[in-house]
Amino acid sequence: MASLGQIIFSSMIILIIIFSAIIILILALAFSGSLSEVQSSNRLPIANLGEDKLLSCYIHTTSEQTTFREMSVTWEKKELSGVVYLYENGAADLKDQNSQYKGRTQIFPDALTKGNASLLLRSVKRNDEGEYTCHISSSDGGGKVNIHLRTAAFSAPTFTFSNGTLSAEASRWFPKPNVTWLDYFGNVLRGSTSFTQNSAGIFSVVSRLQPVNVSDTYTFRIQNDLVIAVSEATITGSGVSKNTYFTYSAASSRPGSYLSIIISVLCIYCLI
Ligand SMILES: *[C@@H]1O[C@H](CO)[C@@H](O)[C@H](O)[C@H]1NC(C)=O
Repeated sequence: MASLGQIIFSSMIILIIIFSAIIILILALAFSGSLSEVQSSNRLPIANLGEDKLLSCYIHTTSEQTTFREMSVTWEKKELSGVVYLYENGAADLKDQNSQYKGRTQIFPDALTKGNASLLLRSVKRNDEGEYTCHISSSDGGGKVNIHLRTAAFSAPTFTFSNGTLSAEASRWFPKPNVTWLDYFGNVLRGSTSFTQNSAGIFSVVSRLQPVNVSDTYTFRIQNDLVIAVSEATITGSGVSKNTYFTYSAASSRPGSYLSIIISVLCIYCLI
Protein backbone atom coordinates (compact mmCIF):
# COMPACT_ATOMS: atom_id res chain seq x y z
CA MET A 1 0.00 0.00 0.00
CA ALA A 2 1.24 3.46 -0.90
CA SER A 3 2.32 5.66 1.97
CA LEU A 4 0.73 9.08 2.56
CA GLY A 5 3.98 10.65 1.32
CA GLN A 6 3.79 8.80 -1.97
CA ILE A 7 0.14 9.78 -2.46
CA ILE A 8 0.91 13.47 -1.86
CA PHE A 9 3.92 13.27 -4.15
CA SER A 10 2.01 11.69 -7.02
CA SER A 11 -0.93 14.10 -6.66
CA MET A 12 1.54 17.02 -6.86
CA ILE A 13 3.01 15.55 -10.05
CA ILE A 14 -0.45 15.10 -11.55
CA LEU A 15 -1.44 18.67 -10.63
CA ILE A 16 1.75 20.04 -12.17
CA ILE A 17 1.14 18.08 -15.38
CA ILE A 18 -2.48 19.33 -15.58
CA PHE A 19 -1.45 22.97 -15.06
CA SER A 20 1.37 22.70 -17.58
CA ALA A 21 -1.11 21.36 -20.12
CA ILE A 22 -3.46 24.30 -19.41
CA ILE A 23 -0.63 26.81 -19.85
CA ILE A 24 0.52 25.23 -23.12
CA LEU A 25 -3.07 25.31 -24.37
CA ILE A 26 -3.46 29.00 -23.48
CA LEU A 27 -0.12 29.94 -25.03
CA ALA A 28 -1.10 28.08 -28.20
CA LEU A 29 -4.41 29.97 -28.33
CA ALA A 30 -2.69 33.30 -27.71
CA PHE A 31 -0.16 32.84 -30.46
CA SER A 32 -2.33 31.13 -33.05
CA GLY A 33 -3.38 34.58 -34.34
CA SER A 34 0.19 35.65 -34.97
CA LEU A 35 0.99 32.45 -36.87
CA SER A 36 -1.18 33.76 -39.68
CA GLU A 37 0.81 35.13 -42.60
CA VAL A 38 -1.32 38.24 -42.77
CA GLN A 39 -0.10 41.04 -40.52
CA SER A 40 -0.61 44.70 -39.73
CA SER A 41 2.09 47.19 -38.79
CA ASN A 42 -0.43 48.76 -36.38
CA ARG A 43 -3.32 46.77 -34.98
CA LEU A 44 -4.43 49.59 -32.66
CA PRO A 45 -4.30 52.70 -34.84
CA ILE A 46 -5.62 56.06 -33.63
CA ALA A 47 -7.00 58.31 -36.36
CA ASN A 48 -7.28 62.07 -36.12
CA LEU A 49 -10.93 62.95 -36.86
CA GLY A 50 -11.33 64.54 -40.29
CA GLU A 51 -7.97 63.29 -41.51
CA ASP A 52 -7.17 60.24 -43.66
CA LYS A 53 -5.94 57.03 -42.05
CA LEU A 54 -4.16 54.06 -43.58
CA LEU A 55 -5.19 50.72 -42.06
CA SER A 56 -2.19 48.47 -42.55
CA CYS A 57 -2.67 44.87 -43.75
CA TYR A 58 -0.22 42.77 -45.74
CA ILE A 59 1.05 39.25 -46.31
CA HIS A 60 4.31 38.79 -44.50
CA THR A 61 6.98 37.32 -46.74
CA THR A 62 10.60 36.52 -46.09
CA SER A 63 11.72 37.15 -49.68
CA GLU A 64 11.55 40.65 -51.19
CA GLN A 65 10.86 39.42 -54.71
CA THR A 66 7.58 37.59 -54.23
CA THR A 67 4.71 38.80 -56.35
CA PHE A 68 1.22 37.64 -55.58
CA ARG A 69 -1.34 36.51 -58.09
CA GLU A 70 -5.10 36.06 -57.79
CA MET A 71 -5.22 38.45 -54.87
CA SER A 72 -8.59 38.93 -53.30
CA VAL A 73 -9.08 41.25 -50.37
CA THR A 74 -12.07 41.77 -48.10
CA TRP A 75 -12.23 44.52 -45.49
CA GLU A 76 -15.10 44.10 -43.07
CA LYS A 77 -16.18 45.84 -39.90
CA LYS A 78 -17.71 44.07 -36.93
CA GLU A 79 -21.49 44.52 -36.62
CA LEU A 80 -21.68 46.35 -39.94
CA SER A 81 -23.71 45.07 -42.86
CA GLY A 82 -22.04 44.75 -46.25
CA VAL A 83 -18.34 45.23 -46.72
CA VAL A 84 -15.99 48.14 -46.16
CA TYR A 85 -14.06 47.19 -49.30
CA LEU A 86 -13.86 44.18 -51.60
CA TYR A 87 -11.28 43.50 -54.29
CA GLU A 88 -11.71 40.38 -56.41
CA ASN A 89 -10.76 39.12 -59.88
CA GLY A 90 -8.47 42.07 -60.50
CA ALA A 91 -10.93 44.84 -59.64
CA ALA A 92 -12.77 46.54 -56.80
CA ASP A 93 -16.28 45.17 -56.28
CA LEU A 94 -18.20 47.75 -54.27
CA LYS A 95 -21.81 46.77 -54.89
CA ASP A 96 -22.10 45.45 -51.29
CA GLN A 97 -20.13 48.30 -49.77
CA ASN A 98 -21.80 49.81 -46.72
CA SER A 99 -22.99 53.34 -47.53
CA GLN A 100 -20.94 54.77 -44.64
CA TYR A 101 -17.80 54.06 -46.71
CA LYS A 102 -19.00 55.16 -50.18
CA GLY A 103 -16.29 57.17 -51.90
CA ARG A 104 -14.04 57.17 -48.82
CA THR A 105 -11.96 54.04 -49.28
CA GLN A 106 -9.12 52.99 -51.51
CA ILE A 107 -6.52 50.25 -51.74
CA PHE A 108 -3.33 50.43 -53.79
CA PRO A 109 -3.20 48.15 -56.87
CA ASP A 110 0.61 48.45 -57.17
CA ALA A 111 1.08 47.48 -53.52
CA LEU A 112 -1.43 44.65 -53.92
CA THR A 113 0.89 42.68 -56.21
CA LYS A 114 3.41 42.72 -53.34
CA GLY A 115 0.83 41.33 -50.94
CA ASN A 116 -0.03 44.70 -49.41
CA ALA A 117 -3.80 45.22 -49.01
CA SER A 118 -3.66 48.32 -46.78
CA LEU A 119 -6.83 50.40 -46.88
CA LEU A 120 -6.89 54.19 -47.01
CA LEU A 121 -9.88 55.60 -45.16
CA ARG A 122 -10.56 59.24 -46.01
CA SER A 123 -11.81 61.91 -43.64
CA VAL A 124 -12.24 59.68 -40.59
CA LYS A 125 -15.49 60.06 -38.61
CA ARG A 126 -16.43 59.04 -35.08
CA ASN A 127 -18.50 56.06 -36.23
CA ASP A 128 -15.56 54.62 -38.18
CA GLU A 129 -14.27 53.51 -34.80
CA GLY A 130 -14.36 49.75 -34.28
CA GLU A 131 -13.02 46.34 -35.12
CA TYR A 132 -12.00 45.75 -38.74
CA THR A 133 -10.96 42.47 -40.33
CA CYS A 134 -8.74 42.32 -43.38
CA HIS A 135 -8.89 38.97 -45.21
CA ILE A 136 -6.42 38.28 -47.98
CA SER A 137 -6.37 35.25 -50.22
CA SER A 138 -3.94 34.71 -53.06
CA SER A 139 -2.21 32.02 -55.09
CA ASP A 140 0.59 32.06 -52.50
CA GLY A 141 -1.30 31.96 -49.23
CA GLY A 142 -3.38 34.32 -47.18
CA GLY A 143 -5.10 34.80 -43.87
CA LYS A 144 -6.67 37.57 -41.88
CA VAL A 145 -5.85 40.14 -39.25
CA ASN A 146 -8.04 42.19 -36.90
CA ILE A 147 -7.43 45.91 -36.52
CA HIS A 148 -9.05 48.00 -33.83
CA LEU A 149 -9.42 51.60 -35.03
CA ARG A 150 -9.95 54.30 -32.46
CA THR A 151 -10.65 57.97 -33.19
CA ALA A 152 -9.57 61.13 -31.44
CA ALA A 153 -8.92 64.76 -32.28
CA PHE A 154 -5.54 66.25 -31.52
CA SER A 155 -3.54 69.27 -32.65
CA ALA A 156 -0.29 70.87 -31.55
CA PRO A 157 -0.65 74.02 -29.47
CA THR A 158 0.60 77.45 -30.54
CA PHE A 159 2.27 79.71 -27.98
CA THR A 160 2.32 83.45 -27.46
CA PHE A 161 4.07 85.59 -24.88
CA SER A 162 2.91 89.02 -23.81
CA ASN A 163 2.85 91.04 -20.57
CA GLY A 164 4.67 88.34 -18.64
CA THR A 165 2.08 85.68 -19.57
CA LEU A 166 2.76 82.58 -21.65
CA SER A 167 -0.38 81.43 -23.50
CA ALA A 168 -0.95 78.10 -25.21
CA GLU A 169 -3.81 77.48 -27.62
CA ALA A 170 -4.74 74.10 -29.11
CA SER A 171 -7.73 74.11 -31.42
CA ARG A 172 -8.82 70.47 -31.74
CA TRP A 173 -8.96 67.91 -28.93
CA PHE A 174 -11.27 64.97 -28.26
CA PRO A 175 -12.05 63.36 -25.84
CA LYS A 176 -11.68 66.30 -23.43
CA PRO A 177 -8.02 66.44 -22.39
CA ASN A 178 -6.20 67.38 -19.20
CA VAL A 179 -3.46 69.98 -19.41
CA THR A 180 -0.35 70.42 -17.27
CA TRP A 181 2.36 73.06 -17.14
CA LEU A 182 5.80 72.06 -15.87
CA ASP A 183 8.96 74.04 -15.30
CA TYR A 184 12.39 72.99 -16.55
CA PHE A 185 12.84 70.70 -13.53
CA GLY A 186 9.49 68.98 -13.97
CA ASN A 187 7.69 70.77 -11.13
CA VAL A 188 3.99 71.28 -11.79
CA LEU A 189 3.02 74.93 -12.24
CA ARG A 190 -0.43 76.41 -11.82
CA GLY A 191 -1.93 77.79 -15.03
CA SER A 192 -5.47 78.80 -15.83
CA THR A 193 -7.18 76.80 -18.51
CA SER A 194 -10.47 77.07 -20.37
CA PHE A 195 -12.14 74.63 -22.75
CA THR A 196 -14.64 75.48 -25.48
CA GLN A 197 -16.61 72.81 -27.30
CA ASN A 198 -17.79 73.29 -30.89
CA SER A 199 -20.98 71.87 -32.40
CA ALA A 200 -19.13 68.68 -33.41
CA GLY A 201 -18.11 68.15 -29.79
CA ILE A 202 -14.43 68.98 -30.38
CA PHE A 203 -12.70 70.94 -27.63
CA SER A 204 -10.42 73.90 -28.06
CA VAL A 205 -8.04 74.60 -25.20
CA VAL A 206 -6.59 77.92 -24.05
CA SER A 207 -4.22 77.92 -21.10
CA ARG A 208 -2.26 80.80 -19.54
CA LEU A 209 0.77 80.64 -17.30
CA GLN A 210 2.01 83.53 -15.21
CA PRO A 211 4.54 84.66 -14.10
CA VAL A 212 7.14 83.35 -16.55
CA ASN A 213 10.72 84.39 -17.26
CA VAL A 214 12.26 85.32 -20.58
CA SER A 215 14.70 82.67 -21.88
CA ASP A 216 13.20 79.96 -19.64
CA THR A 217 11.77 76.73 -21.03
CA TYR A 218 8.34 75.43 -20.00
CA THR A 219 6.66 72.12 -20.76
CA PHE A 220 2.98 72.07 -21.70
CA ARG A 221 1.28 68.68 -21.78
CA ILE A 222 -2.15 67.98 -23.28
CA GLN A 223 -3.39 64.50 -22.60
CA ASN A 224 -6.41 62.24 -22.91
CA ASP A 225 -6.68 58.45 -22.83
CA LEU A 226 -5.56 58.12 -26.45
CA VAL A 227 -3.03 60.83 -27.21
CA ILE A 228 -0.43 62.88 -25.34
CA ALA A 229 1.08 66.01 -26.84
CA VAL A 230 4.17 67.30 -25.07
CA SER A 231 5.44 70.76 -26.05
CA GLU A 232 8.64 72.42 -24.95
CA ALA A 233 8.22 76.19 -25.19
CA THR A 234 11.15 78.56 -24.74
CA ILE A 235 10.46 82.24 -24.35
CA THR A 236 12.88 84.09 -26.60
CA GLY A 237 13.33 87.85 -26.77
CA SER A 238 10.93 88.17 -29.69
CA GLY A 239 8.45 85.34 -29.12
CA VAL A 240 8.25 81.68 -28.23
CA SER A 241 10.09 78.80 -29.87
CA LYS A 242 8.41 75.44 -29.49
CA ASN A 243 8.69 71.80 -30.27
CA THR A 244 5.77 69.34 -29.92
CA TYR A 245 5.71 65.58 -30.10
CA PHE A 246 2.75 63.22 -29.94
CA THR A 247 2.54 59.81 -28.28
CA TYR A 248 -0.34 57.43 -28.96
CA SER A 249 -1.80 54.93 -26.53
CA ALA A 250 -0.92 51.35 -27.41
CA ALA A 251 -3.31 49.91 -24.86
CA SER A 252 -6.35 48.13 -26.11
CA SER A 253 -9.61 49.04 -24.44
CA ARG A 254 -10.75 45.43 -24.78
CA PRO A 255 -10.78 43.63 -21.45
CA GLY A 256 -9.10 40.30 -20.81
CA SER A 257 -5.98 40.42 -22.92
CA TYR A 258 -4.12 37.18 -23.46
CA LEU A 259 -1.21 38.47 -21.39
CA SER A 260 -3.29 38.95 -18.26
CA ILE A 261 -4.79 35.47 -18.69
CA ILE A 262 -1.30 33.98 -18.98
CA ILE A 263 -0.07 35.93 -15.95
CA SER A 264 -3.01 34.85 -13.82
CA VAL A 265 -2.53 31.20 -14.83
CA LEU A 266 1.18 31.46 -14.00
CA CYS A 267 0.23 32.85 -10.59
CA ILE A 268 -2.11 29.94 -9.92
CA TYR A 269 0.80 27.74 -10.96
CA CYS A 270 3.24 29.30 -8.48
CA LEU A 271 0.73 28.92 -5.64
CA ILE A 272 0.96 25.13 -5.83
C1 LIG B 1 1.49 49.24 -48.14
O1 LIG B 1 1.09 50.21 -49.08
C2 LIG B 1 0.86 51.50 -48.56
C3 LIG B 1 0.31 52.36 -49.68
O2 LIG B 1 1.17 52.40 -50.78
C4 LIG B 1 2.14 52.04 -47.95
O3 LIG B 1 1.91 53.31 -47.39
C5 LIG B 1 2.62 51.08 -46.87
O4 LIG B 1 3.86 51.51 -46.34
C6 LIG B 1 2.78 49.68 -47.44
N1 LIG B 1 3.10 48.77 -46.34
C7 LIG B 1 4.01 47.81 -46.46
C8 LIG B 1 4.23 46.96 -45.27
O5 LIG B 1 4.64 47.63 -47.48
